[in-house]
Amino acid sequence: MAEKVLTVGGGGREHAIVDALARSGANVCAVMKNRNPGIARLAKDVLLVKETDVAKVVQYARDRSIDLAIIGPEAPLEAGLSDALRDAGIGVVGPSKKAARMETDKGFARSLLANHGVPGNLRFGVFDALGPAIEFAKEADFQLAVKPVGLTGGKGVKVEGEQLKDKDETLSYIKEVFDRSIGGVGVVLEEKLVGEEFTLQAFVDGTRVVPMPLVQDHKRAFEGDLGPNTGGMGSYSLQDHLLPFVSKDDLALAMESMRRTVDALSKEDCVYQGVFYGQFMLTSKGPRIIEFNARFGDPEAMNVLPLLDSNFVDICHGIANGNLSNSNVSFAPMATVCKYVVPTGYGLEPKANLPIEVDEKAIASEGAKVFYAAVSEESGRIMTSSSRAVGVVGIAPDLERAEASCERALKHVKGEAIYVRHDIGRKEIIERKVERMRAIRGLCT
Ligand code: AMP
Ligand code: GLY
Repeated sequence: MAEKVLTVGGGGREHAIVDALARSGANVCAVMKNRNPGIARLAKDVLLVKETDVAKVVQYARDRSIDLAIIGPEAPLEAGLSDALRDAGIGVVGPSKKAARMETDKGFARSLLANHGVPGNLRFGVFDALGPAIEFAKEADFQLAVKPVGLTGGKGVKVEGEQLKDKDETLSYIKEVFDRSIGGVGVVLEEKLVGEEFTLQAFVDGTRVVPMPLVQDHKRAFEGDLGPNTGGMGSYSLQDHLLPFVSKDDLALAMESMRRTVDALSKEDCVYQGVFYGQFMLTSKGPRIIEFNARFGDPEAMNVLPLLDSNFVDICHGIANGNLSNSNVSFAPMATVCKYVVPTGYGLEPKANLPIEVDEKAIASEGAKVFYAAVSEESGRIMTSSSRAVGVVGIAPDLERAEASCERALKHVKGEAIYVRHDIGRKEIIERKVERMRAIRGLCT
């Protein structure tokens, strides 16, 4: 009989998760706050409920005799959902609340890396009071990134020389974080890194760390990497599973950081079982850790999951049971380009609640896939919200063709107030990143 798998979450990332599960023959029961039309269609059953309502989700999982659960977003991890499901005897892909502090508590994360000497960490201070934080910032002889300790939906981090013009603005932002309790109480102040960012995601079964293809996300709202930070406007990956500016040696160093972190978590009695997400900055001194997340990235999940050649249900069992095998995880040697269709003004003042038309058949005929995100289906119409609407992913043997397929497919998404960063995955922006990285590395030698 087909495996009964519970998924938690209703975004583009979770649509990609449900799609991969369905391809692997699972019977999916999906829990989400709003009805994602893509997930609803693939799932055998749906419960619309707040994803952090632990009691209701666990009851639903019991009622449906669920074998295995996959938790998409970070909020339910912080609410203790993975622990409660495990206590109910269900296998879970998603770390415990304690282990998820790698994402939910930036102070815990930096301190763990420092205490265990994990390579790739950087100079930092963790503060739960304003006075010492201001003192540290004034004395630091390097530029700073200011990070509220808790979850801010990717919008709380500000960096000197970027969102913060100078030291004065840095000091007043630190004060604002404390005054307004942005992301809880406390702040991490850390060294500003200069380089190119990349994402390394891995399946982790408590000890083994099995990597997925590298991805580069684009957080800035506008073309040319300008404008405010967003949840991510789109992303690409290459057929060799590296990136144009990331070598095998760089990848090996990033993997070492991930392995050492998973070991450190085990030693601190926080065994990690789930998807582990490493955001790295490739600098003149090699890869440095920007942050770890306790889940798939969004959009990054939409790049890697469609390439998975292996059975995803088997991988999830391996994670949940602590017996994941490297040889059971393989990804097609293809390139992907994902571009998110977002409401006009996303990141600033989005124009929400407007209809869009998505011609799924036409998108498939262009060799692309579409994943629904923050939209709702009302009387047969797809309506946007203030957040990302649909992810369109072109998949092809090389980047150029993947980008072209994504662009052709995007023409089959229509609406009056939608915006796409068309530069993602294009030669010009990638060449600029490669050049920039060369210059950064050259300066150091
Ligand atoms: P986070 O929410 O930690 O992913 O941070 C959001 C964005 O801020 C990252 O994607 C980076 O672009 C930037 N950022 C975070 N930490 C640093 C840092 N130490 N140095 C430079 N940029 C950073
Ligand atoms: N793409 C960034 C994230 O998922 O955190």
